[in-house]
This record gives sequence, structure tokens and C-alpha cells, in this order.
Amino acid sequence: MTDWQFVVPTNGSKVLPPDARSWEALSSQGYDFEVAVADLVDNSIDAGAKDVVIHFLRDGEQLVSLLVVDDGYGMDEDDLDVAMTVGGRQKYTARALGMFGTGLKSASLSQADSVTVISKTRRTRAAGRRWVMAHAKSDHRCDIVDAEYAQNLLDRYYDRPITWQGTVVRWDGVKDFPKHGGGGQTDRYLHRIIVKLGLHLGLYLHRFLAREDFNITIAVEDVRTGTVYLDFGVQPVDPFGYPVSGDPTFPRRFVAPVAGVGDVVLDAHIWTPKSNLDEYKALGSVIDRQGFYFYRNDRLVQAGGWNKYRQAEQHLSLARIAVDLPSEVGDAFRLTVKKSGVETSPAFASALENAVDDQGRPFADFLIAAQNTYREARKRTGLTRDPVIGPGEGVAPEVRQTIEEELPVLEYEERIAIRWQRLDHALFFDVDRDTRTIWLNQYYRPAVVAGRHGGLNDAPLVKSLLYLMLRQVFEKSYSGPREKDTLQLWQSVLVAAARSGLDGAADHD
Ligand SMILES: Nc1ncnc2c1ncn2[C@@H]1O[C@H](COP(=O)(O)OP(=O)(O)O)[C@@H](O)[C@H]1O
Ligand SMILES: [Mg+2]
Repeated sequence: MTDWQFVVPTNGSKVLPPDARSWEALSSQGYDFEVAVADLVDNSIDAGAKDVVIHFLRDGEQLVSLLVVDDGYGMDEDDLDVAMTVGGRQKYTARALGMFGTGLKSASLSQADSVTVISKTRRTRAAGRRWVMAHAKSDHRCDIVDAEYAQNLLDRYYDRPITWQGTVVRWDGVKDFPKHGGGGQTDRYLHRIIVKLGLHLGLYLHRFLAREDFNITIAVEDVRTGTVYLDFGVQPVDPFGYPVSGDPTFPRRFVAPVAGVGDVVLDAHIWTPKSNLDEYKALGSVIDRQGFYFYRNDRLVQAGGWNKYRQAEQHLSLARIAVDLPSEVGDAFRLTVKKSGVETSPAFASALENAVDDQGRPFADFLIAAQNTYREARKRTGLTRDPVIGPGEGVAPEVRQTIEEELPVLEYEERIAIRWQRLDHALFFDVDRDTRTIWLNQYYRPAVVAGRHGGLNDAPLVKSLLYLMLRQVFEKSYSGPREKDTLQLWQSVLVAAARSGLDGAADHD
């Protein structure tokens, strides 16, 4: 055995520039549409913009482009070259949202076939650059936009928002847009995506949007007719904007001593129970919205989650903690490129165990208080719901989640799976207590899924109904005569219904 070499010996070096294909990797970071747009708005904010317009352009039924327009400082020719360079960056101010010098390129090219950037400073004329994914991939070649076109495009936005300076980022060939917009498809898409985009920007940039002098507008315009279909300001969605604290002794401030970083302040809040506000409910599923809200320079970079500190659970739905990350985060907090999550180190987790408020009370007290508020609010309805065996495999996640929000689920009980299997034609379902499974008769599946794709979580309606009907059967180890009779009744009726469903399905073939 030869000796271990502590340093790897080398023999000179050579430069290996990335292959042009690396653009594909760059643009395949799994950006969602609204996350990618938010990355552009971050750049506008860094450029000191007060007004940002997000413009969907349509040509009749076809969506053609997306533009993000701002009244920030703008860029001259040299700045544009830097901006279009992967990893290229201007000097960042201490408060900048930019980080890796890749956002513009990777966000744009993950969403669009090409990205054009047109810009003007107070001192320079309009200029522009364009990356076409196909060109970038073949030889890193960036196009120089015709100066007259650059000026024309800016003129479209004269006065709103661009007067003396500003930037337009234009996406063409947007993958998310419907290919054929006919039959109202474009309108439905726009409705859905604009709500989503508005909530996303409203949430992640809520501190900026709360300021008097900063606005984001979303608008839709027909390029041929000039008709403006929609034009509205994005409203801040403050994840801590509850009307009354769920517990009058909160919010409370805890301080966590994070090794290598210093004291990190945790502002622990308990939401008003049973809130229907967007700030509580509209941000995806409530269960994912508990936990840490990390901010970096006032931009939200993680909206909920426990970072391995513990598991999300329904009883902690009201618990939210605001954490302003220090500017020197060291290794304790790592931001992802998409700015949609923070990776925390074990040092953070152990700091949480030692976090205390100004009276020396531990952070764990907050979790208990949040759970109690949640439970008390449930009790106050007068009726309590008995704990149930939860739904498991085969039941769609949205359905499971709602059941878990509505009912206390027995934590240590194996869940009830609902699955398909060949059964005697006289049965629609079969209850298997040993494996905690409700078997549905595969033979009737075409009647149940009625032309839609079958899959593990198919037939959510029929499965939720059967779960509600049969869940109590699993709580006992055998069925008495009355229960057997009820099950028999359901079998006959459901088999008859499924048979007529099968006939109906056959008629259509
Ligand atoms: N809307 C804009 N206005 C002015 N400068 C911009 C704008 N968008 C991008 N830039 C410039 O391009 C650079 C690269 O942007 P980007 O790829 O998003 O990386 P990052 O924001 O991490 O620096 C920014 O640092 C900034 O200098
Ligand atoms: Mg950026």
C-alpha cells in the first residue's frame, strides 16, 4: 500500500470553458413561471425601480409575449453585456436582492425561447441585447438589438413607467402559454396565471409593495387593436397580516444563538384561528405555510417550512415565524438560486433548542401555544369531532389534506388505503381490515373514471365518499349484523350504479 497523499499532485493546468450546451443546464433549474417573473422583478427593484409593469401581449386569441418593464436606472451598452453574461454582475449594494448573476438568464430561458433586454439610462440612448436559446446553445452568441427598435419599444412605455430611464425584458416563445388559444383557452389561462402571479409577487415582495412609492402592475393588451383587457395593481399579501393575534401573549421575540453567525432574531406569531383571509389561506396549502418565513433584504426567500427542525402538522397551522437573515449569513443559511427556499445548517437547528425570549422562556413554548390555540378554536364550535383513522395511499393529496384539516387523525394508526383490484362482479368494494385497505372492483373502473386517466390517485370523488362511508368499519375488528346489512345495501346499490355507468361508457364508444 502506498502512502496517503494529503495533497493531490498536479502537472500544470488547462482552461476548459463550459460547453455551449451548458445553457441547457442553466435553463433547466425547474423555475415555475411566477418564480421566474419574480426574479425579473427583483432586478427591477435592485435598479431602484418605483414602477414595474408586467405586460402580457396577445394577438387575438394567441398570447405572443411577456414583458417586464421598469423605471429603474437602466443600463448602457457595457452594462448590458455584463447583464447578459452568465454570472455577470454589477457591484451589489449591501441591500441588493441579486446574488449569483444568473437570475435573468436562467429564469428567462427556462420560460422562453428568447429573452431580449432593452434599456436606457439618463445619459445614454436605448440599446438592447438578445439571447436566443438556439444561438446560445450553438456558440454562446448574443444578438445586438437594432437601436431604432430598442427606442421604439421603450416609446411604447413612455410615461408609464419609463420616462428618462428604464428597462424592458421581453420573453418570446413562452413555454407556459397555451399553444392554441382558441375556445376561450387563453382567457382561462390568463385568469389562472394572473391570480397565481399576483399572489406570488404579493407574498414574496409584500414588504416592498406595502411602501407608498413602489408598485407592480399586471396588464394584458392586444397588440393589434391596442385593447387593454386588464390592468391592476398587485396587492401585498402579508403572511403576518392577521387581524387579531391567535394568542394575546404573541407575537413574541426569541433570540437564537447561531454558531458562527451570532444572534438570530425569531419573531414568533400565532394566526387568528379559522381565518379565511388570503394571507392565511390562499398561499397553497395551509399545512405548508407554517414555520419559518425567511427574509433577505426585505424580500421573502422562504414562505413556511420547518427546515428539518420538526414535521409539519395540522395543529401547528397557526405558527409562523419571521426571520430577517443577517447580511453575513455564513454557512448557517444557504439561499437557493431560485430564492424559493433556505437551506439551514445543523447549527441553526441546535440554536433553536437554545432560543429563548426576553423572559428566558424556550422557543418550544411557542409551538405549544400555537397548538393550543388551534385546538381550543376547534373546541369552541361546541361540537368536537372524534379522532379517525386517516386516509392513505390512493387518496389524492388535496383530499387527504382537507380531511386532516377537518378531523383529528389518529397519529399511530396505519392509514386506510383505497386501491383497485379484480373482485367478484357482485362486489363494488371490499373491506380488508388486515391490510387496512378498501379494494375497489377494477371491473367497474371504466365507469368510475369515465374516460379520464386512471392512476394511483384517480377517482377522488368516489374514493372520498367511500372513505367517509367506510372509515368507521376499520375502527372495529368485526362487523355486527346491522353493519353487515348496511354494507350489503351499499354493495347492491353501488354495483347497480357502476353497471349502468359501464353501459353508458359502452354507448359512447
Ligand atoms: N431591470 C434591470 N435594470 C437594471 N439592471 C439590470 C436589470 N436586470 C438585470 N440587470 C443587471 O444585470 C445583472 C445580472 O442580473 P441577474 O442575471 O438577474 O443576476 P443578479 O441579479 O444575481 O446580479 C444585474 O446584476 C444587473 O446589474
Ligand atoms: Mg437577478
